[in-house]
Amino acid sequence: MNEEIKMDTEFFKAFAKDKTLSRAEFNKRYLETHKKPPAPDRFVNLKVPSPKHKSIYNWLAEYCEKFPTKIPNLVLWGATGTGKTFIVNTVKQSLTDKKVRVEYATAFNMVNVFQKYVNSFGRDDEQINDFLDCDVLIIDDLGTEPTIKNVTQEHIYNILNERLVNKRAFIITTNLNPDALYERYDERIARRITAKENSTLIEFPKFDSKI
Ligand SMILES: Nc1ncnc2c1ncn2[C@@H]1O[C@H](COP(=O)(O)OP(=O)(O)O)[C@@H](O)[C@H]1O
Ligand SMILES: [Mg+2]
Repeated sequence: MNEEIKMDTEFFKAFAKDKTLSRAEFNKRYLETHKKPPAPDRFVNLKVPSPKHKSIYNWLAEYCEKFPTKIPNLVLWGATGTGKTFIVNTVKQSLTDKKVRVEYATAFNMVNVFQKYVNSFGRDDEQINDFLDCDVLIIDDLGTEPTIKNVTQEHIYNILNERLVNKRAFIITTNLNPDALYERYDERIARRITAKENSTLIEFPKFDSKI
């Protein structure tokens, strides 16, 4: 039942019991008893592995708060074990709290989906459509997926390009630095990922000490 209809029904029930109840008074009481708790701030109380991480976390918290921003795409890059997957999940939770539709997939996983799609002659397209349609697509660990001829690069290109054209965001994490992205992928993919007008690139440093 939608909230307005529910409110009307409850008002008439309450009014049947107490004919002196005004709509204004009912609304006030209703809103007080149905107040939603504020969404948790996913970025508070996080352990912070280094001062640089602290400023990255602050930046990402603001990104989530202001989403969608003018340049909503992110590339979080840095060595393995620098906390990229961890924080991208915090970003996911934070955006989901705001009802943003976020899809998370590892690049490895995505290639499995591409392969299923190809093997079914395009019929098995549900997950592909999710990759295309969601508000934010998180691609974790780009560069660890298998390179399958006529599949991997073509589909990655298509998804990134469609999302850029339709102004839908992507967040990529990768162990590859921007130069290495150009080595591994077609120039048109690397450019779409790394161009300043498309994405904000954030380098993740090593942890200062074990977390
Ligand atoms: N802020 C944090 N608080 C607690 N644990 C963290 C934090 N950042 C990363 N970790 C942990 O450190 C390890 C490496 O982080 P991970 O996100 O997997 O790195 P990456 O994706 O860059 O390889 C994981 O076990 C992860 O849970
Ligand atoms: Mg990772």
